[in-house]
Amino acid sequence: MKVVITKSYEEMSMEAFSVMRAVVTAEPSAVLGLATGSTPLGLYRLMAEDHREKGTSYKKVRTVNLDEYVGLGPESDQSYAYFMRENLFRHLDIPPENTHIANGKAGDLAAECHRYNSLLGQLQRDIQILGIGSNGHIAFNEPGTPFGSETHVVALAESTIRDNARLFARAEDVPRKALTMGLKNIMHAKKIVILANGANKAGAVRGLVCGAVTEQLPASVLQLHPDCTLIVDEAAASLL
Ligand code: GLP
Repeated sequence: MKVVITKSYEEMSMEAFSVMRAVVTAEPSAVLGLATGSTPLGLYRLMAEDHREKGTSYKKVRTVNLDEYVGLGPESDQSYAYFMRENLFRHLDIPPENTHIANGKAGDLAAECHRYNSLLGQLQRDIQILGIGSNGHIAFNEPGTPFGSETHVVALAESTIRDNARLFARAEDVPRKALTMGLKNIMHAKKIVILANGANKAGAVRGLVCGAVTEQLPASVLQLHPDCTLIVDEAAASLL
């Protein structure tokens, strides 16, 4: 794994953006795997600014997202579909039908997992952007998830519910379940860029880079990927 340590969140976002821009300019119909959370927001701002000012086009780009809360649809401002529309898609020229997120309001969740998993098989990602949870989760693959897992429904760990409660009015409002790509799906991307900032990620980052490859720290599977880059600020790198 290549490790890039940056001075700040802004510099981390710039580094990620330069990798993303190279992928999109080399392949105008690239498939991008995208993540939610506060970590990639700086990257998304830079993509929007670059599109506005330099005209980089996303007309032919396709995107797939990592995960979605069960029970929330695109109209809910806490859903990941809403997050992606507000923070990225509406600032680009990407056709909405080219953007894919699992449907958290599907009546039959098993069928929705199957549908989304087939879609991922058809759309191999040129690049996958990831954040990391403080317990080492990626997407919503919590500790203990098998490395061979594909798209599935997950019961969120208490620590994840606590971490994400800051984004909801009340902790009780955080959905207890989510649909997520599995670790095998994530590893299928040609290139992976994982981002982390802030001291609360330092323990997970240490496990990711220097720890054992273990299902107890889902992100550690990335040590086995042939083209994975970790971009971290100094605070998140403090235990390396
Ligand atoms: C959620 C998402 C992950 C994300 C993580 C960290 O659990 N499912 O994809 O990486 O939060 O979020 P943040 O970037 O806000 O710290």
